[in-house]
Amino acid sequence: SDDVKLLALETTCDETAAAVITDQLEVLSSVVASQEDLHQQFGGVVPEIASRAHVEKILPVIDQAVRKAELKLSDLDAVAVANTPGLSGSLLVGLTAAKALCLALDVPLLAVNHLQAHVYACKLASGRDVFPCIGMIVSGGHSNFYRCTAATDFTLIGGTIDDAAGEAFDKVASLLGLPYPGGPAIGKAAAKGDGKRFRFPRPLLDDKSRLDFSFSGLKTAVRYQVHGTGKLDDTTQLDEQTVCDVAASFQEAVVDCLVGKAELALQQSGYQTLCVGGGVAANGRLRERLEESAAKQGYELFIPPMSLCTDNAVMGAIAIERWKEGKFESLDLDISPGLER
Ligand code: KG4
Ligand code: ZN
Repeated sequence: SDDVKLLALETTCDETAAAVITDQLEVLSSVVASQEDLHQQFGGVVPEIASRAHVEKILPVIDQAVRKAELKLSDLDAVAVANTPGLSGSLLVGLTAAKALCLALDVPLLAVNHLQAHVYACKLASGRDVFPCIGMIVSGGHSNFYRCTAATDFTLIGGTIDDAAGEAFDKVASLLGLPYPGGPAIGKAAAKGDGKRFRFPRPLLDDKSRLDFSFSGLKTAVRYQVHGTGKLDDTTQLDEQTVCDVAASFQEAVVDCLVGKAELALQQSGYQTLCVGGGVAANGRLRERLEESAAKQGYELFIPPMSLCTDNAVMGAIAIERWKEGKFESLDLDISPGLER
């Protein structure tokens, strides 16, 4: 067909992903190679291991994405790559692969902001125009609010001052002797627990002057509540029900913070739409509480299905917006690991 065929690459953190999407936002293929097993024994993403794994996986993943789309490399019209933010070594692998393809195929290069792409996933999943909206990205690496005026135009309006929400899930899971990644494990345990048994702090929740989170104090509170001494080596003394109750009580505290600040962001901006992205958006309790909040406060809520919440290349379809605006990149495009303020 005459549709523009875009290959999008995603290697910002620990997922090596490629997808082929058309300018009609039709998804022809999507491949995600997770590195979860490689990082499991360390309880978190190890940057050096991540970049090495990307090097090993990027070409097979691209190859698979193009084949699944029933295309040849020469059928591609453009290549998009997430070049910000993320881990330097990881970002470099995707960017280098994208540039090599552009050079070899003589097609234009497009840049993707990974966080804008997470918000764009809400538009892709719903088929609706979600802008302007408040974007809430809650993952292992980020917990931020954005005022999104358009797909490729946003402003950071708040976020965590220490740990990301997903990071807190991962660390508390590790305290409780639950497996990595901690989010799904805590969610499962919490479903069997009493969220009111322990009263953990809700840092910054009552401060209506800022849209920020602080999850590292919450993690410490869990540690002291559970172990008293603060020692980490006595999880074996916790009975199963206590583990579930701590998980549920912790989850309740995080969800209170996330929902409370989301409501504040909407109030402050006057926007009527909340778009949620990132791995923590897979949390059932968070979804439930956001749905209640949206119904009560009268805003529209968009949360993509799980496969579009966690890192993937389909959300790189946001590059179509840049294609339409003629915003192509030169081959000296660089990575930008940090958050742009
Ligand atoms: O977006 P993501 O796949 O990767 C990045 O961090 O970029 O997010 C992974 C994070 C991990 O910290 C994981 O523990 C958390 O998302 N997560 C969850 C759930 N599933 C994944 N957190 C809470 N509840 C879940 N069901
Ligand atoms: Zn992400």
